[in-house]
Amino acid sequence: MEQRYVRGALIVFEGLDRSGKTTQVNRLLQDLEGTKERYPYRGMRFPDRTPANPINIEICDYLSKKKELPAREAHLLFTKQRQNQKDEMERFLQNGTTLVVDRYSHSGAAYSAAKGLPLDWCMAQEEGLPKPDLVIFLDLFADIAKNRSGFGEERFEEEPFQKRVYEQYMQLQDETWLRVNASKTEEEIAAEVRQAVLRVIEECREKPISHFGD
Ligand code: TMP
Repeated sequence: MEQRYVRGALIVFEGLDRSGKTTQVNRLLQDLEGTKERYPYRGMRFPDRTPANPINIEICDYLSKKKELPAREAHLLFTKQRQNQKDEMERFLQNGTTLVVDRYSHSGAAYSAAKGLPLDWCMAQEEGLPKPDLVIFLDLFADIAKNRSGFGEERFEEEPFQKRVYEQYMQLQDETWLRVNASKTEEEIAAEVRQAVLRVIEECREKPISHFGD
């Protein structure tokens, strides 16, 4: 007999620094609250900055420029944080919970490749992790992002670097990506996002979870 799946969707938001991801993640989570009986959900974010373990603390120190790390080592640190969450993410998805994630593997690859690491090597470190059913890419050019408030405080928040990140993101796109024009109004973006998310949640209920490297 054919196996039937009723699982949650893995929804990921990606984009440059200050592209509005966190605002849109929060809006989507609020929207989903209204339909949580039908579509249970949970929010997550990478990197996880809570000081819960040494990896999280090291990532915070690296991002705030308190600590320097060679590019490969930094890359593997971010990847390890995701790999440590793999089993829990799978459990939620299998239980029918949709995960809404603020940054995930494509951030890892795009930011490290922008430092000069090979993009393929970066993505290879993500193998075995659940692959997003939908990547919402908030599409905002680096020269616009730099004018948004708060830009420039952290590592990577420099325009030439962000341009390289953008180029790497473009190479990672596949059929699961939805590029949303991030210079539209918050409401317009939220409506576009909501429509795509509800469609994908329905579509993937009956599909097995796929993984990077499958
Ligand atoms: P955010 O918490 O504001 O999204 O910023 C996280 C920063 O960390 C952002 O500049 C992107 C970067 N980053 C990586 O370099 N590698 C990763 O794997 C992830 C998830 C983020």
